[in-house]
Amino acid sequence: MSEKIDPALPKVELHLHFEGAAPPAFIRGLAKEKNLDISKIFTEDGGYAYRDFWHFLEVYEAATSTLQTPEDFHRLCLAVLEDRARDGVVYAETFLSPDFCGGGDVSAWREYLHAIEEAAAIGQRDFGITLKGIVTAIRHFGPEKSRPAAICAVETKGDFLTGFGIAGDEKMHHPKDFTWAFDCAREAGLRLTAHAGEWGGAKSVRDALDYLKPERIGHGVQAIDDLALVDRLAEDRVVLEVCPGSNVFLGVYPSFPAHPVDKLREREVIVTLSTDDPPFFRTTLVQEYEALAKAFSWTEADFRAINADAARAAFCDAATKDRIL
Ligand code: ADE
Ligand code: ZN
Repeated sequence: MSEKIDPALPKVELHLHFEGAAPPAFIRGLAKEKNLDISKIFTEDGGYAYRDFWHFLEVYEAATSTLQTPEDFHRLCLAVLEDRARDGVVYAETFLSPDFCGGGDVSAWREYLHAIEEAAAIGQRDFGITLKGIVTAIRHFGPEKSRPAAICAVETKGDFLTGFGIAGDEKMHHPKDFTWAFDCAREAGLRLTAHAGEWGGAKSVRDALDYLKPERIGHGVQAIDDLALVDRLAEDRVVLEVCPGSNVFLGVYPSFPAHPVDKLREREVIVTLSTDDPPFFRTTLVQEYEALAKAFSWTEADFRAINADAARAAFCDAATKDRIL
């Protein structure tokens, strides 16, 4: 029997796509208000419908097409924080894409960001959750679009906007095509994370480390196929933002017991736990903890240690870390 994990355990979630956290009912409501027909992206029971990861990216973009104004993003932020509060999350970081908020134009982006920041302040007051933003280039949109995204990040770096990263289809383009954007963000003092090793294998993790030099890797789990790389991650204290339920739902691994997160921990890699795009993967952070406790006999002490590591790896100042630890 696995230990029962208190659902209210305070949690730190570092890997959460903002649009990917949108409840389907919220997106359906926006579509109705705007007279948009996106019925084909929903299953009969009202969830998101897609066949595989690449189709997921298309459905993700169709859902995102309903988010058109800063006010829409403000409302989404409150909905996302309400869900996080239900999971016991006390601190979250979320990926935001200027491509979806003004198309990379800095002054439009400022308006969207302002609306999201205002909602985050309400979330702090009403739910006691601290939210930070990470501007994220989208790999399959190409290197050209990553440059204005980086400029948007640099121009709005501050207490809320603290990081820069890259997500999207890992099989498109090479990390070296994005060095300009990452160098630009690093020079401005932004903290860096890059999706790698979700679909692109261990080599993709190596390339991301070599060319983009992030302190955290989104997923990174396929590093397990190259033990020298696993040792490098452990020695260099690179933090993995692991999203086990996402990987299982999308078929990267067949089940929780087959997921490498336990082996990575055994080899002293710093792992943190997140949901990625929770309604798309029909998961919550509470469900992730329950599944991991069952699969690996992890106890509340394991989850507390993982959350302490996540707080240390958070892209926020020391005072905020002290408060959430
Ligand atoms: N964008 C949203 N979710 C993603 C994921 N799991 N991998 C890459 N890009 C994403
Ligand atoms: Zn992700």
